[in-house]
Amino acid sequence: MNITVIGRGNIGGGLADLWERAGHQVSRLGRDGGDASGSEAVLLAVPGVAVEAALSSVTGLEGKTVLDATNLYGGARPPAGFSSNAEYVKSVTGGTTAKAFSTNFASLFGRVAGARVRPSNLWSGDDEAHGVVSQLSHDAGFEAVRLGDLSMAATQEGLAGTIFAISQSGLGEFVYRMAPPEQL
Ligand SMILES: NC(=O)c1ccc[n+]([C@@H]2O[C@H](COP(=O)([O-])OP(=O)(O)OC[C@H]3O[C@@H](n4cnc5c(N)ncnc54)[C@H](OP(=O)(O)O)[C@@H]3O)[C@@H](O)[C@H]2O)c1
Repeated sequence: MNITVIGRGNIGGGLADLWERAGHQVSRLGRDGGDASGSEAVLLAVPGVAVEAALSSVTGLEGKTVLDATNLYGGARPPAGFSSNAEYVKSVTGGTTAKAFSTNFASLFGRVAGARVRPSNLWSGDDEAHGVVSQLSHDAGFEAVRLGDLSMAATQEGLAGTIFAISQSGLGEFVYRMAPPEQL
């Protein structure tokens, strides 16, 4: 798959490395922007408050499937008029949109491939995103678990505070797994 990552830091760069290892072609864009017209999937991985600036610097996003990994915390809000960054993204692209890869620690990406069982990767978004999210989660070493449609993206963005609180309460950086009982 041809993938463009917008944001080449911990999340964007980390997933780009894993996806390239899985055989995908990945273009990495930073704050200087660029063109995404040739991509089959786009990952948005910039600071949560930089989403508007980031999308305005990238051309060729119309109709693209976007996986939005951004988080909002510390009182930061999505762009005015939107409940979540992911819904803002969809208003810009008009394409299939998912909130994904926002609830996993990038610092552990290098260890996920060796896990006894695949950790979960929560996502919320359009039905049409199911295949891409499942494949790109799998190719990064995770198993996608759906939280709901795009109206649940705000709930997912709000999980960042919970995840930090768990981490800071003694567990440190962690992975998680949500699975049906038959997989016990
Ligand atoms: N780190 C994690 O474990 C983690 C986990 C889940 C979700 N997230 C979320 O993922 C997002 C990225 O986190 P990160 O840790 O990867 O951040 P990071 O390492 O600081 O990387 C941020 C990237 O965003 C780019 N950027 C910054 N401002 C920009 C702007 N105005 N326009 C376009 N690009 C801009 C930077 O561009 P340059 O390369 O040009 O500097 C950089 O490539 C955040 O929303 C974060 O909350 C992070």
